[in-house]
Amino acid sequence: MNVLIVGNGGREHALAWKIAQSSRVDQVFVAPGNAGTAEDAENVDIPASDIAGMVKFAKQNQVGLTVVGPEAPLCAGMVDAFEDAKLRVFGPSRVAAQLEGSKVFCKQILRNADVPTADFHVFDRAEIATRFIMERYPSETDRVRVVVKADGLAAGKGVIVCSQRHEALDAIERIARVREFGEAGNQLIIEDRLDGQEASVLAITDGRTIVTLPPAQDHKPALDGDTGPNTGGMGAYCPTPIVNQENLAWIEEHVLVPTVHAMKRGRTPFRGVLYAGLMMTHQGPQVLEYNVRFGDPECQPLLMRLKSDLVDLIDATLDGRLDQLEGLQWDPRPAVCVVMASEGYPGSYERGKVIRGLEDAARLPDVKVFHAGTATLNGKVVNNGGRVLGVTALGASISEAKRQAYAAVKCIRWDGAWCRKDISDKALLTPQ
Ligand code: AMP
Ligand code: GLY
Repeated sequence: MNVLIVGNGGREHALAWKIAQSSRVDQVFVAPGNAGTAEDAENVDIPASDIAGMVKFAKQNQVGLTVVGPEAPLCAGMVDAFEDAKLRVFGPSRVAAQLEGSKVFCKQILRNADVPTADFHVFDRAEIATRFIMERYPSETDRVRVVVKADGLAAGKGVIVCSQRHEALDAIERIARVREFGEAGNQLIIEDRLDGQEASVLAITDGRTIVTLPPAQDHKPALDGDTGPNTGGMGAYCPTPIVNQENLAWIEEHVLVPTVHAMKRGRTPFRGVLYAGLMMTHQGPQVLEYNVRFGDPECQPLLMRLKSDLVDLIDATLDGRLDQLEGLQWDPRPAVCVVMASEGYPGSYERGKVIRGLEDAARLPDVKVFHAGTATLNGKVVNNGGRVLGVTALGASISEAKRQAYAAVKCIRWDGAWCRKDISDKALLTPQ
């Protein structure tokens, strides 16, 4: 069988690498891919936004399965287009993908399903949102604990965590008046701010049955100690002790199952990867957001640990027989992924710097360097995005995996390369 993977990040490289290992797969295509996917699979020059182009390619190349990596094509209806063309495709439909594409939709599902989440209010006019803040916090010096969120997709930038009144007012201004995030700001949410450690719990669902994957933890802020601006994720590890077995069972029962049922009841049945972004608060886990795809970079350490055939898991999902699937096999060793980024990221950065040392890193045992923002230029691998590589390693413990990942990072260099130095250290705060 030929498989097509849509996207060009570290997540898609990990998917291509894992799926290429399946004995049932002949050829893996990645569209548009990066320099790493060109090595482990074959790149196809179609942008992830070109739904018609993807369908045409799949038809012409006997593609028996398509896996859509990023949220934008899912929210734009890529899965619906493949299904209309009678092609097998893994991911939620356009309406189900609203769980990520519309924060208002997501909060309403959570509220209907009685899933724990921060209290929230929805606004479609800036004046009313502003009045709400002014009434709730009459003094400029009041201690403010709110998060202001644009409703739609804003590449992770439409969420503003506020501790002062002027920050909340400014966030409303940016989202609803200046329209910094365009149509994503047609509606906005103001919700209570939660405290705790964040965790990512991903599950695969066919709309009825849920297979929960081991919990992972991302590191969203750019700098060590969780400081600096937010990014797409500077590193991740799996499993995380922050979510123990008991918590995981609770999350399955009180978060994932009711959500999948609510989606079914609402006639937007969900099939694909359901990714709960959780805050582990003193009152228990609460949902911050849902994503409708594998996390990036969480996918990299997750798939590095998965021993079972991912294609079998996806097939069972598409055929609605996840209830009959044998339990997944996992490498007992934890995995840590350190993201190496371009100078300037998450702001602007230069591209085209030659990356050296990839072969040396690849020679280290239990290491896989997943590419994200890379391209090939004159036969050399160069940086072509903000997050460039996801250097991932397995180890006997989280600390060992961390050590090995950073040993691989040390082999790799380009002008301006940097990474966080403390990926997975948060695990050490929790007794294991
Ligand atoms: P979201 O896209 O909704 O996950 O938000 C992105 C990031 O904003 C999360 O990973 C959290 O770090 C932060 N965040 C979102 N909602 C809240 C909240 N209610 N309380 C505290 N932090 C939040
Ligand atoms: N790592 C966060 C995300 O994939 O959205």
